[in-house]
Amino acid sequence: MEPILTKYVKQPGGASLDFYMKVGGYEGLRKSLGMTPDQVVDVVKQSGLRGRGGAGFPTGMKWQFVDKKSPKPKYICCNADESEPGTFKDHVLMERNPHLLFEGCLIACHAIGAKVAYIYIRGEFYHVQQVLERELAKARAAGLVGKNIMGTGFDCDIFVHRGAGAYEAGEETALIESLEGKKAQPRLKPPFPAVAGLYDCPTAVNNVETLCNVPFIITEGAEAFAKLGPEKNGGPKLYCISGHVKNPGVYETSMHTTLRELIYDPKFGGGIRGGHQLKCVIPGGSSVPVLLPEQLDIPASFDGVASAGSMLGSAGLIVMDETTCMVWAAQNLLYFYKHESCGKCTPCREGGDWLHKLLMKIERGDGEMRDLDLLLSVANNIAGKTLCAFGDAAATPVLTTIKTFRAEYEAHIREGRCTLPASWRASHPVLAAH
Ligand SMILES: Cc1cc2nc3c(=O)[nH]c(=O)nc-3n(C[C@H](O)[C@H](O)[C@H](O)COP(=O)(O)O)c2cc1C
Repeated sequence: MEPILTKYVKQPGGASLDFYMKVGGYEGLRKSLGMTPDQVVDVVKQSGLRGRGGAGFPTGMKWQFVDKKSPKPKYICCNADESEPGTFKDHVLMERNPHLLFEGCLIACHAIGAKVAYIYIRGEFYHVQQVLERELAKARAAGLVGKNIMGTGFDCDIFVHRGAGAYEAGEETALIESLEGKKAQPRLKPPFPAVAGLYDCPTAVNNVETLCNVPFIITEGAEAFAKLGPEKNGGPKLYCISGHVKNPGVYETSMHTTLRELIYDPKFGGGIRGGHQLKCVIPGGSSVPVLLPEQLDIPASFDGVASAGSMLGSAGLIVMDETTCMVWAAQNLLYFYKHESCGKCTPCREGGDWLHKLLMKIERGDGEMRDLDLLLSVANNIAGKTLCAFGDAAATPVLTTIKTFRAEYEAHIREGRCTLPASWRASHPVLAAH
């Protein structure tokens, strides 16, 4: 598939307004302003666009849920927090194609009746924020953002807000809290943001990649978008491939592409590094279940990956070869989750730390067989028992690695050490130091 979202990311000067205008930029906005908001929502619904932030929720439906009859202002919040381990696609779009995102934000605002869009960007993305601010100023000066856009009477502004670098700030209600100047902690739902979001007003929270797909849908039509992928999984998709592949990076392709192709095809991951064998892959960022090498002949689509018992999530493929110790990998992920828990819900705040301590006990060689049942019990008492999906995310590395690699955990406990061959441990700086 010819890239659509990343077509010009390697072009020198490709992020500039001049270049964007030369390649047909803001034509989607122009066309959408000639349509009614309901027509825009309908086209996006027909395209079948599903949110690229993790859950794959249909974008058109999300916009339709926004209470347009409410007398309160409406808001678009663009989720640019991108903190899920293994996920690094949104910052490429923002840094190399910022006007595509602005155009998507403006069309979304028109669709839901909003006059303001906030781009909530991850705290660590200082450089990307500078690019966005620079290009936003140019768009404003050119009459593409602000008052009376393109002389149509449509007023809409965009503001970039940099967070303080917290994973939880990517959860949509925590993001809203943070934008309001509070701690990034999730809200009780319902009410959902579509009814009571930012400043208690109707709000749609959309991921960067989701919004970047909207201009194409408007200019080329719903059908052109839908037919780029399998049924209900249309459009181009960005995949972040990291870990033990030869060519880690961000790749744009259709969701017809299989997970095996993404890992092995020389156009994408290029296969496993250093002559090693694939052990497993986490296909959707760190929060989803692992898949084994024999499970990869499925489309890397929302529905394809779900049919194999995992999730496409944020499409961050973390590839692990046979030299990876799964106890170590699980503790590494739990170190992240215990650190990033916002602390609001007890099961997540206390349980994440408890899981990490148990994993470290096994990793150090002090594990007992009963620790495995305790790990499962603690994880099952976090998953589904918190205000947001962080709890499920924190429990998953434990549940999935014990389910799939129980024998490795048991060997670790029996031997009182990692049972990987010493030569692998020696060639692996992190494991060797362990
Ligand atoms: C702990 C946590 C972190 C999240 N981080 C992000 C993020 O960094 N970026 C993102 O787009 N969505 C993230 N999400 C998902 C958002 O809550 C929300 O579903 C998404 O922004 C909706 O956009 P979409 O419909 O375009 O996918 C996160 C969810 C959770 C539970």
